[in-house]
Amino acid sequence: MDKLRITGGRPLEGEVRVSGAKNAALPIMCAALLTDQALALDNVPRLMDVRTMAKLLAQMGVRIGAQEDGRLELQAAVVGHPEAPYDLVKTMRASVLVLGPLLARCGRARVSLPGGCAIGARPVDQHVKGLQAMGAEISVERGYMNASARRLRGARIVMDLVTVTGTENLMMAAVLAEGTTVLENAACEPEIVDLARVLRSMGARIEGAGTTTLRIEGVRALQGARHRVMPDRIETGTYLAAVAAAGGKVTLTGTAADTLGATIDKLSDAGARISAQGERIDIEMASRPRAVSLSTAPYPGFATDMQAQVMAMDCVADGTAHVTETIFENRFMHALELQRLGADIVIHGNTAIVKGVERLQGANVMATDLRASAGLVVAGLAAQGETVIDRIYHLDRGYEALEDKLSRLGAKIARVR
Ligand code: EPZ
Repeated sequence: MDKLRITGGRPLEGEVRVSGAKNAALPIMCAALLTDQALALDNVPRLMDVRTMAKLLAQMGVRIGAQEDGRLELQAAVVGHPEAPYDLVKTMRASVLVLGPLLARCGRARVSLPGGCAIGARPVDQHVKGLQAMGAEISVERGYMNASARRLRGARIVMDLVTVTGTENLMMAAVLAEGTTVLENAACEPEIVDLARVLRSMGARIEGAGTTTLRIEGVRALQGARHRVMPDRIETGTYLAAVAAAGGKVTLTGTAADTLGATIDKLSDAGARISAQGERIDIEMASRPRAVSLSTAPYPGFATDMQAQVMAMDCVADGTAHVTETIFENRFMHALELQRLGADIVIHGNTAIVKGVERLQGANVMATDLRASAGLVVAGLAAQGETVIDRIYHLDRGYEALEDKLSRLGAKIARVR
């Protein structure tokens, strides 16, 4: 199994280009199911999760072109097999995003329940409840959701909690439903705005994307479109956190600072000098970071997907930080691994109390999920000596060319077997 070997304690210097957003690309790929015409995408990141989604869609009959220079074309001329099997759903929960589009397009779908997850229970009850309100019949049998509907009907749906993929699933179902759907308490993440953008260029009528109320007027059919996937705000934030922890001066290109408000605010509070212009962000960290406390929240609050990386920075900061996780109940797995590097962390319920130490020391650690792994990379870059991170297949799911990009910034990092 591949490992990542990092010799830390060196500042990062240089320029790196941010890839397209994984969490925008995945739902947008599912939107290809909504039309028989071609959907041409640019800025699609080369990631394991993108390949898994392509495999899932291909199994249903979607024609997938070769991925070159970030381009990917998908065409669902016929959807012969509206099913998402367990072996794919269990490796990538985002597979559940086919449920809404399949119901809308084919009137039926068979999608495996995702099962357990390393970061929390992650049920899909809100997806199911919303589709049922639109007239779908959904039963669960032998681990699969069997859904059917003649044609979905618009409905007013108040989501019990803020869910990103839940909002995306219902939005994609509603675009082909009969009548108007109003989604209240919808998620406001920038990836939802990107999905709405592509759906609109396919002919959908959606208002309010990026706010808590979405209004979707169903149409009979959608057409093909071309779309550029938004930049990855979590990849951007991960590089920013790495610089804040290890020091240095870096320019990120191909990104969008306006999607990163809370992360930039926290890293600035830690002492990083950050400025943004157009698609570029410059960061300089000349001193040891100051500890910053945070509490994760739905957008525009501080992203749960950035919690591990900023906690890693807090481990070497001056002062004590309280890091509270409110979205997922088991998202502190990295804390135990950070302790192996010498971090001083005490966990009380959903809050980690991180007392910064002068220096972390490299050690062998294990990646447990995607962002936990990213946190360990940040810590490894800041630590003195060698850190070896095992199970980095988690990183390959969500970070394009991570070690190449960090090497370009002067990090000593290599993939080893
Ligand atoms: C999305 O997951 C992201 N995945 C996650 O990114 C991200 O951590 C998460 O949103 C929160 O921002 C994609 O976009 C593909 P949720 P999602 O539904 O949609 C509960 C990464 O590392 N909930 O917003 O699955 C749920 O258990 C990943 O890139 C229900 O109770 O997350 C959680 O506590 C990991 N019932 C909370 O809501 C439901 O029906 C928010 O989850 C749905 C969710």
